[in-house]
Amino acid sequence: MSQEIYARRRDELVNQIGENDIVIVPTSPVKIRNSDVEYQFRADSDFYYLSGFAEPEAVLVISPGRKRGKYVLFCRESDALREMWDGRRVGLDGAMELYGADDAFPIEDINDILPGMMEEKEKVFTTVGRYPDFDAQLLGWMTKIKEDSRRGKHAPYEFVDLNHILHEQRLIKRVDEIALMRKAGRMSAAGHTRAMQVCKPGMYEYQVQAEMECEFRKAGSLYNAYSSIVAGGPNACVLHYTENTDVLRDGDLLLIDAGAEFECYASDISRTFPVNGKFTPEQRTLYDIVLSAQEAAFEKCSAGHGWNEPHDAAVAVIAQGLLDEGLLKGSLEEALESESYTQFYMHRTGHWLGMDVHDVGDYQVEESWRELEPGMVFTVEPGIYVNPADGVDERWNYIGIRIEDNVLVRRDGFDNLTASAPKHPDQIEALMAG
Ligand code: GLY
Ligand code: MN
Ligand code: MN
Repeated sequence: MSQEIYARRRDELVNQIGENDIVIVPTSPVKIRNSDVEYQFRADSDFYYLSGFAEPEAVLVISPGRKRGKYVLFCRESDALREMWDGRRVGLDGAMELYGADDAFPIEDINDILPGMMEEKEKVFTTVGRYPDFDAQLLGWMTKIKEDSRRGKHAPYEFVDLNHILHEQRLIKRVDEIALMRKAGRMSAAGHTRAMQVCKPGMYEYQVQAEMECEFRKAGSLYNAYSSIVAGGPNACVLHYTENTDVLRDGDLLLIDAGAEFECYASDISRTFPVNGKFTPEQRTLYDIVLSAQEAAFEKCSAGHGWNEPHDAAVAVIAQGLLDEGLLKGSLEEALESESYTQFYMHRTGHWLGMDVHDVGDYQVEESWRELEPGMVFTVEPGIYVNPADGVDERWNYIGIRIEDNVLVRRDGFDNLTASAPKHPDQIEALMAG
């Protein structure tokens, strides 16, 4: 994305704070995987949203009233030796020339410089509670300013959670973001399609995962938006199963929940299909219920509907389907009232999607479910999961199904960003037979 977009985002944020306030956002810390091996670094989403800066060890500061430039980046300095070993760095000049910073300072100097920038400010907008080490550093700077108060300087009066304003901003996706999310959706769909094409009994879950993720990578997605769930048979009933180590058995279903990340935007698709390419009657019955539930939810995805409406619509179809098949007893009203359906459908029908897979933004405003607005993107992911239990005919045991797509709210309807991943049972069987 171009630098103007990040500048516009910063301006939008600045419009919501006072001239004498300051915004301080650190990127994520580097995490150790084992010994001296690090996990692949991924910038903090808030930080990246405002800067487009992907290197670790960086802090951005926006100080609207600062005379020498309101946007400041603290980052790693250029260092020929370190860069030869560990990779290139943008450096201070690059931070200004390529990333639009008015000023850039070495991250090592932040303790000396940032307290001075916080002096005389009124409010500090920051992501309190996300990175404990950074919070401690921030308190240290406050203490330092207070100790210096004999010089006549005062520390900021208030810490304000930046989430409140920044996450409302992130919740509504702009044209450029939607283009990236569309791409991520298409890449993911190609991976899921590949998984259906290669899957056969005797393969291991991780082998199907490798084929799918190979498609993500070939399409230009460098990372997954989250750890892939490739869950054969009973593993599908473990909602966040990520071991992906079991062999796939003839007659079982395979549930895959996986999404490519593209330029820090996530996609999040679930598909469920028969390992051998042909649904059993029981699998098909429950699959059709989940698919109908998703279609009912889609009816409630345009602007003006309440956040809970797609969920309520999906729940009603699932509960009725489970009653029809004898998995639940009683009337629909009773099932909805007692929430007996949660034995088989225990999660919600969706979540916001954006730079984070479970993206930011409130679901309720003043204690009511918020209204869907153009530019919001969220998942629609009904499911049914049958674990053995008293009163459940064993022919249903261990069937786990989830169908998940990514929806963009438009004024006059919605777009399904992940529609190219097959999901109609006949379509899946035809694809797998080919
Ligand atoms: N992949 C996580 C979710 O569907 O919420
Ligand atoms: Mn999801
Ligand atoms: Mn998912």
